[in-house]
Amino acid sequence: MDKMVIEGGFPLVGEVSIGGSKNASLPIIVSSIMFDEFDSEIDNVPGLEDIKTIKKLLTSLGAEIKESDEPDKLVINTSGINNYDAPYDLVKTMRASVLVLGPLVAKYKKARVSLPGGCAIGARPIDFHLNALRSLGAVVEVDHGYVEVHADKLKGAVINFPIPTVTGTENIIMAATLAEGTTIIKNAAMEPEVDDMIFALNNGGADIKRVEQSIIVVNGVKKLRRLCHRVLPDRIEAGTFMTASAITKGDIVLKNINVQHLKAIIDKLSEAGAKIIINSSSQLRVKGSKAIKSVDISTAPYPNFPTDMQAQMMALMTLSGGLCVVTENVFENRFMHVAELIRLGANIKVRNNFAIVKGVQKLSGAEVMATDLRASASLILAGLASSDGLTTVSRIYHLDRGYEKMEEKLSNLGAIISRVKENDIPVVDEPDFNGSACSKSA
Ligand code: UD1
Repeated sequence: MDKMVIEGGFPLVGEVSIGGSKNASLPIIVSSIMFDEFDSEIDNVPGLEDIKTIKKLLTSLGAEIKESDEPDKLVINTSGINNYDAPYDLVKTMRASVLVLGPLVAKYKKARVSLPGGCAIGARPIDFHLNALRSLGAVVEVDHGYVEVHADKLKGAVINFPIPTVTGTENIIMAATLAEGTTIIKNAAMEPEVDDMIFALNNGGADIKRVEQSIIVVNGVKKLRRLCHRVLPDRIEAGTFMTASAITKGDIVLKNINVQHLKAIIDKLSEAGAKIIINSSSQLRVKGSKAIKSVDISTAPYPNFPTDMQAQMMALMTLSGGLCVVTENVFENRFMHVAELIRLGANIKVRNNFAIVKGVQKLSGAEVMATDLRASASLILAGLASSDGLTTVSRIYHLDRGYEKMEEKLSNLGAIISRVKENDIPVVDEPDFNGSACSKSA
């Protein structure tokens, strides 16, 4: 198991290029199940563990993932799909594996998918997905830890999600794409990743419209043509690097982003004192402030502040000049990073779904453990800002699920960070006046 070793206290300076969105890639990759006539081509797919998992899952269904000269391009042939089971070992590694339900039922009228069970950030049931599939006419049974779905045919229906669900909305859009008639999805998720999938499907012959902000209408079509899409940039990776600049009082230019999707993050970081300069629709610069201001954060579905940025923002608030409240409204148990941030010297108290963060003068390096994907990012950020001692973040496999070459990108910005094997003695170079950290941050 790998660990990340960080010597913090240096401002990050330079340019970083943001990769394609993990959460858009996953549904778009699985939607290839419905495009079996031609190879599907998907560009700007990040090289992440979650992407490897979804590729494994598609391969296990009988799809062929072809080699491509471009590292971030996937070419998928789904004409050989002859298995409709998503097994426990894949679903437990990544709950987004449940996304195969929609396209498998749409195309083959059957699917068997392991129930994902709980995860570090909460119970995360899939009852909304299953009830919506029932509304489309599918028979859904849960047996021995598996969901079995079959249908003679799917028929359009009105679906009203109790609360917006991102993968639930994506699953039902895919199921409705080849259904008979029209499906109206009310209280649909508004995340840009959902719209990216809709764009990809429409280009391939689907008929899907967001008629109001939270209402999506899917007119079923008989047949799809060809899936060929470039995935949108990852707004959470972008937000994480923006926060890295703010917490290290650095100066980072982010390239290959979609500024429009970052509004809630830009607003909060600006309130916290960072200077954000928008260079273009795909590039911005974040200059950290010497004095971080405390700001309250409350997570909610898009376009509000994303739960996937809560842990990173909390790391920033640990060094603010005052007191703030971080409220988590999406997942019930998404404060696993708190105990670890406290190990680095933070002052945080959790009450139910809110955390009271009192800014401290400094964080100090310590050994900490990543508990989930975004918690890992938060600990890396806190480690980069710790002004004395080394920070060692273990269980870094969580980070690898959602960040590509994180340590390489951070090193290029002047961070002193290295990946070591669990039993290796950490070797971290002293900052070199001719080398990365000091010269870049001067
Ligand atoms: C997606 C994202 C994840 C992000 C989350 C919220 C992907 C692959 N993952 O996860 O990174 O943190 O959106 O923005 O896109 N719920 C139910 N029953 C259901 C479905 C959801 O109760 O059937 C609840 C969840 O427990 C949660 C809320 O609804 O409290 C929203 O979850 P949801 O939007 O479904 O999250 P995911 O799609 O799993």
